[in-house]
Amino acid sequence: MKLEKARISDVPEMHKLINYFADKGGMLARSLSEIYENLRDYFVVREEERLIGCAALHVCWADLAEIKSVAVVEGKQEQGVGARLIKTCLADAKDIGISTVFCLTYKPGFFEKFGFSQVDKMELPRKVWTECYRCPKFPGCDEVALIYHIKAGA
Ligand SMILES: CC(C)(COP(=O)(O)OP(=O)(O)OC[C@H]1O[C@@H](n2cnc3c(N)ncnc32)[C@H](O)[C@@H]1OP(=O)(O)O)[C@@H](O)C(=O)NCCC(=O)NCCS
Repeated sequence: MKLEKARISDVPEMHKLINYFADKGGMLARSLSEIYENLRDYFVVREEERLIGCAALHVCWADLAEIKSVAVVEGKQEQGVGARLIKTCLADAKDIGISTVFCLTYKPGFFEKFGFSQVDKMELPRKVWTECYRCPKFPGCDEVALIYHIKAGA
């Protein structure tokens, strides 16, 4: 199993994976153009040449980034793939000097495993809502917000 930055050729597979779970109501859908435009945010996990998971770290502001689109193919879940992706996103955030990472999710228990804590969505800066306007659920967002503070030097 190999974790690395996503490549252009991964986009169709990532799009399929994310939207498979989005169609089931588990996460937000992403268009092909969104994934291409933000490709540098994405990490993927491969098993041999097969893409089995992805996640993105998107910088929002000087002190804030979001973890998005975390998905692991059915049949490869509960084997630590999601954990590797989250830890990599957090390490990446630390490397570039981000102090706080947040996520909006229907799976708060998964993120709590890594030290994220639930917060009121209204505590997040308005800046993070830019893409929410395009969500079919807006303004009735039912995702849970969680944040993680990165300790300097830790
Ligand atoms: C949520 C998801 C990314 C987890 O990936 P995974 O590879 O199965 O997770 P891991 O095996 O790395 O699990 C890490 C830990 O989180 C726990 N965990 C996994 N899914 C969980 C969930 N839904 N709720 C609570 N804890 C969860 C595991 O039991 C494990 O705990 P442990 O360290 O005590 O053993 C995966 O189930 C998935 O892709 N789901 C569909 C898409 C989705 O809902 N994404 C949500 C994020 S936006």
